[in-house]
Amino acid sequence: MIKVAIITISDKGSKGLRQDKSGELLIKMIEEEGWIKSFYLIIPDEKEEIEQKLKEVADNNIADLILTTGGTGLAPRDVTPEATKNIIEKEVPGIPEKIRYATGENTPMAYLSRGVCGIRKFTLIINFPGSTKAVKECFEAVKDLIPHGINILKGEITEH
Ligand code: MTE
Repeated sequence: MIKVAIITISDKGSKGLRQDKSGELLIKMIEEEGWIKSFYLIIPDEKEEIEQKLKEVADNNIADLILTTGGTGLAPRDVTPEATKNIIEKEVPGIPEKIRYATGENTPMAYLSRGVCGIRKFTLIINFPGSTKAVKECFEAVKDLIPHGINILKGEITEH
């Protein structure tokens, strides 16, 4: 059973000025895979706050997987990739490569997302862009890689 933390990063969402449709969609999609939501939060585009929450979830083993949504673009306040890079111990570049390659064919704007992926302790962290369309496309692009990746990360598979 994969435990998933969903963290929505949105200034407006964190103030209750916008419904968090992307976070809600992510919860629905992970539950359709049979995974469970172990943590859900909306926070503003503040680098230190993002770093602190990612660390809290990973260091307390609250989730095997953290999916963030939002803050990956080119706007001045978009800092999700920087916060993620600051707290991961290893980068997993293939996951964002797959996201941009697979979804970029139909959505060239996919290449404007600077989302990253990495590992802290036994938790895999993946940045998704903020829109519901993007969240759906990006999750579809990588969902089949996640169970095997997490099994390896947790040391549950040692031979292939
Ligand atoms: N990726 C996919 N697959 N589908 C999308 O619709 N939107 C793009 C991009 N990545 C998109 C996508 C757009 S328009 C932007 S501006 C960037 O993600 C950054 O989004 P964010 O700042 O909400 O994270």
